Amino acid sequence: MRSLIDILDFTVEELEQLIAVACDIIENPDKYSEKCKGKKLATLFFEPSTRTRLSFEAAMYELGGNVIGFSEAKSSSAAKGESVADTAKVISCYADIIAMRHPKEGAAYVAAKNATVPVINAGDGGHCHPTQTLADLLTIYREKGRFSNITVGLCGDLKFGRTVHSLINALSRYSGVKFILISPEELKIPSYVKKDILEKGNVPFVETTDLESAMPELDILYMTRVQRERFFNEEDYLRLKDSYILTPDKLLNAKKDLAILHPLPRVNEISVAIDSDPRACYFKQVLNGKYMRMALILKLLEEAKR
Ligand code: CP
Repeated sequence: MRSLIDILDFTVEELEQLIAVACDIIENPDKYSEKCKGKKLATLFFEPSTRTRLSFEAAMYELGGNVIGFSEAKSSSAAKGESVADTAKVISCYADIIAMRHPKEGAAYVAAKNATVPVINAGDGGHCHPTQTLADLLTIYREKGRFSNITVGLCGDLKFGRTVHSLINALSRYSGVKFILISPEELKIPSYVKKDILEKGNVPFVETTDLESAMPELDILYMTRVQRERFFNEEDYLRLKDSYILTPDKLLNAKKDLAILHPLPRVNEISVAIDSDPRACYFKQVLNGKYMRMALILKLLEEAKR
């Protein structure tokens, strides 16, 4: 049974096919409005979410399907001690496909091993968030028309920011991509990402604490929130939370065609004054996420038939 746990589960060709389907959905929504008639998506969210859960639900409704699920662990039998493995077996009796978010790294993998329907990882702890990467890729494609030969600045909490880990994995497969990793010392990219993906793949990257000096080089600036929920103590969070705040003056030396992305939710990292700048793409990114999730649901349900 094909699932999506890590963005590397899909080849570059498959990701590009998903982008092509998403673009076709944007152009011809009516063609897709009954594609999932009679099918059910279960959204199992053991952690808070606005975008991911609701965009999955909107995606399934726009495909003509239905949705069941829960939005917090305490309203599920996990609160009584049920395991992820058992939950996955049970939900497989009710739904045709599962989207699951869980605070523990590897939880989606365990679910996929036990489910008899496709499982989509909607975020597993600080590990990865492949469907956010699908949203990011469609946004980069629509803004830049390419994935090769771009300089990508990733800024903020690169340690716990799971969207960053998935995006590095996805973009590292293209030629001419350079990463500028901008973070406080304590929130640097984990060594498994640095060693196993960047160094092993000979992907050019620089680590810095200075956003402004990196700015003129960037084609994409991917801002991230400091992930309060993954900190062991509040003091460290409070000290680091406002390490980077993007304000209009910081864009003075930026490229005219820079694309500013953020997986959202934003806390303080991007001033609302940036929202009206044509380079701000984070709300377009939200909409792109829905189209890519529609394409993903179609792909996994189609493969499940075989
Ligand atoms: N980007 C993202 O995962 O947002 P939510 O936490 O609101 O789902």
